[in-house]
Amino acid sequence: MNFTADRLLLFGATGDLSQRMLLPSLCALHADGFLASNLKIVATARSEMSTSEFRQFARAALERYLPKNRRGPMADFLNRLTYVSVDATTPEGYDQLARKVGDYSGLAIFLSTAPGLFEPTIEGLQTAGLTQGNVRIGLEKPLGFDLTSSQEINDAVAKAFSENRIFRIDHYLGKETVQNLLALRFANVLLEPVWNSNYVEHIQITVAETVGLESRVAYYDDSGALRDMVQNHMLQLLALVAMEPPTSFEATAVRDEKVKVLRALRPMKEDEVVTGQYRAGAVEGKSVSGYDEELGKDSDTETFVAMKAHVDNWRWHGVPFYLRHGKRLPERVTEIVVQFRCIPHSIFAGRGARTQPNRLVIGIQPEENIQLTMMAKVPGLGREGLRLRPVPLDIAMPDAFTDVVRRIAYERLLLDLIEGDQTLFVRRDEVEAQWEWIDHIRGLWAENELKPKSYGAGTWGPSAAIALAERDGVTWHDD
Ligand code: BG6
Repeated sequence: MNFTADRLLLFGATGDLSQRMLLPSLCALHADGFLASNLKIVATARSEMSTSEFRQFARAALERYLPKNRRGPMADFLNRLTYVSVDATTPEGYDQLARKVGDYSGLAIFLSTAPGLFEPTIEGLQTAGLTQGNVRIGLEKPLGFDLTSSQEINDAVAKAFSENRIFRIDHYLGKETVQNLLALRFANVLLEPVWNSNYVEHIQITVAETVGLESRVAYYDDSGALRDMVQNHMLQLLALVAMEPPTSFEATAVRDEKVKVLRALRPMKEDEVVTGQYRAGAVEGKSVSGYDEELGKDSDTETFVAMKAHVDNWRWHGVPFYLRHGKRLPERVTEIVVQFRCIPHSIFAGRGARTQPNRLVIGIQPEENIQLTMMAKVPGLGREGLRLRPVPLDIAMPDAFTDVVRRIAYERLLLDLIEGDQTLFVRRDEVEAQWEWIDHIRGLWAENELKPKSYGAGTWGPSAAIALAERDGVTWHDD
């Protein structure tokens, strides 16, 4: 099983993800010498194109999406690429593909196609003999739109590939700062003793975006914020924050612990979720249209979700996890806030000083930093009373590691696929636990005919989202 692939077969090679992420990541890996010299990349999509036309296409994508200083000798990279046009819905074409791939003993496949094409593609690959032996497959989201459809996809894939050959992508797991969360928790002794309900009052996870629909009209309107971001990325972040220490940084150990958290998520109640849809407004100083206008029709799809979740286990008993995600919010920020409890007794109270509880903010993007607020004494003789103030202990990751290249999440994930390391890929039981929890929420919405509340683009969502936290005395961390 543990071989380094010498063939990478890329489905959906002309798509948006391929242009923006996959080709640039592969080129950057090539430039930095991470790809074995014999690795060939067979690109495929429906469009009729010759290999040299595809190389032109790839060059244009690299010039657009990969910074010049990361491109290296592009011609050498482009020489690795061959193109074969395949209509994934018909069995023809796979034989030609198999001939182009040649020896499949070192093959890794990456499917970045519409989910409806997964099944026919896998059947085609199987008939052409391209799923045999140790061949690995990487699957890009969306893996279904609910538990049933995700099980259907998983079943279809399982007919041709055993679970240890399936690499389900959640690109958040490829982000350096997300992995740093594990280092923070499990490479330091300080946090683990207080990382539980005895010391943590609540946790917030925010993934805020300034973008709107972009060009993904059809996909997004069928999906909505809950399925697009919460089901995958946000639940993975939650699992990493809440999981027990795994015994090692190995695929089975890490994924066993994550799935326990996902299964311990308490089914939500109706009043614990708020949904919203943006109206016209201004984001980062620019006027933007409302969702309906961008879409060109009325819709009940949510572009914002805020929720209060619970992980029902000993460690997190009674600790709310506030999750918030939306499009067209005032700024792009992904962060995790761990709010600690108050000290049990203040020795300074008699001197008029007030203390505030500690707070840890883990910035994932765009700022990569870790900030711990601690109480400190304000200097002075304090004749009118002693004064205390929270001061931040700040670690800006780019400053701490100045000479290190910041990599695209897909660089790591593609390399791990090529080398066969599943640690940062999502296992079937995780995906299914995620869908089960999400389906329950969607069921509540359907039962109660819930419609998203309006919010102006450039605001932090509907006021009900603020109220959701404030009724517990909690303020979202917006500064
Ligand atoms: C994708 C979603 O999975 O993640 C998009 O489909 C979203 O809607 C994107 O914009 C966000 O990714 P990142 O890496 O920019 O935070």
